[in-house]
Amino acid sequence: MQIRQPLPAPPPQALQHSEQLRQLIIQAIAQNGGSIPFAQFMQMALYQPGFGYYVAGQEKFGAEGDFVTAPEISALFSHCIANHCASVLTRCLPQQSPNHSTILELGAGSGIMAADILQRLATLDALPERYLILEPGTELRQRQHETLRQRCPQLLARVQWLQQLPTQPIRGIILANEVMDAMPITLFNLNGGNTDRTDHTHIPKASPAATRANDATTQAYTNDTAVTINSVQVVHHNGTLQFSHGPTSPEQQRQISQRCLQTWDAHYNAYRPHQPYQSEYNPALDGWIQHLSETLLAGTILLIDYGYERSDYYRPERDQGTLLCHYRHHVHDQPLLWPGLQDITCSVDFTAVAAAADQAELAIAAYQTQADFLFNNGLEALFNQALDTHPEQQYRLAQQVRTLTLPSEMGERFKVMALTKGFTSTQQANTLVNLEQADRRHRRSLT
Ligand SMILES: C[S@@+](CC[C@H](N)C(=O)[O-])C[C@H]1O[C@@H](n2cnc3c(N)ncnc32)[C@H](O)[C@@H]1O
Repeated sequence: MQIRQPLPAPPPQALQHSEQLRQLIIQAIAQNGGSIPFAQFMQMALYQPGFGYYVAGQEKFGAEGDFVTAPEISALFSHCIANHCASVLTRCLPQQSPNHSTILELGAGSGIMAADILQRLATLDALPERYLILEPGTELRQRQHETLRQRCPQLLARVQWLQQLPTQPIRGIILANEVMDAMPITLFNLNGGNTDRTDHTHIPKASPAATRANDATTQAYTNDTAVTINSVQVVHHNGTLQFSHGPTSPEQQRQISQRCLQTWDAHYNAYRPHQPYQSEYNPALDGWIQHLSETLLAGTILLIDYGYERSDYYRPERDQGTLLCHYRHHVHDQPLLWPGLQDITCSVDFTAVAAAADQAELAIAAYQTQADFLFNNGLEALFNQALDTHPEQQYRLAQQVRTLTLPSEMGERFKVMALTKGFTSTQQANTLVNLEQADRRHRRSLT
């Protein structure tokens, strides 16, 4: 993908801010011997203290920001999640009672989902004792506090902010809407049959540092010498940040082979690309899911994000991967542009999430499209209630439901995976009451 329309120019102050971060990235490149892995670049662009996109001050969410997430589109989304939480708190963990339970939201954005969930749980008489929010950036933590103070001041006392996962395991629910897609990824490039490693259509021609790195390029996947695997690096050359190729570690080779090459062997007639094939994976996913599992004594983890099962993620036609950037509601594929001013994101490989959950001894209770999850958790009834209260908003509410559920909008591209831990078989069955319809766990290569 190329930029289709010119992007709006950032204001001078924002460009200055980005330049400061760019200088830090250039320093990191120099300290690292001339290049850094793309994952390190993405970590700095999004989370560098004081400068990264998610930790510095500019507007990100909603019409004034760069992109819109489901909780910003409609409170109905968060109310369906609250219905699920109420069912877990009252049916699955009743002996603890809601008063001894916790909801932990990861990456709470503007705080609007927390406010809407708490308000709905209050009307259902199913409030948890505590609502914890883990948010890496100070600016977003302040913003979330302000949202909650304005929308539900009477519930604010239950909310606490964390900078890392709680050390004491919780009973209750862990929520993460669009968090995995904001985690730094390892970008890689496969080339089968084409021996000219600098002939890449997507990645700019390599710099001298890249050429050095290419000397060390790994002829990877020992049983498959027809495929060359490069990791994508970021270098500083002629005053600009550029892509380059570097060698892959044995662990990266194993991860890439397991994801891409084995998928092609199993589903695509042992396909091998004759043009450069770029894709990515999340190297921190297994450790993250393991930490979430350790944080949960008993309850569910609800992971909501855009993504695919692996056979779809690494399909041969998807030869540019899923990496995208959002700037002022423009979508493009130039992640090196304006570090700190734009979102950089990737779709989620839900097969990898399921495998990590297995490893972490979490049960996969359900895997559904967002549309199915919302309808299974009372969307229609909530819509009708909202319509009764605000008949004048019929068009707006219907539009919100369309955006959340239509296959061409968020309905199918977004998936919900529910993981459980510490449940008896009855509690597990109770979790499934609202989730068993339209379950996709049987999807090929997921389990
Ligand atoms: C795309 S935004 C989604 C925000 C919000 N959940 C929503 O749906 O509007 C991603 C959020 O995840 C946060 N985040 C990224 N990695 C995280 C992690 N490991 N733990 C907690 N939050 C994280 C970011 O700081 C950011 O707030």
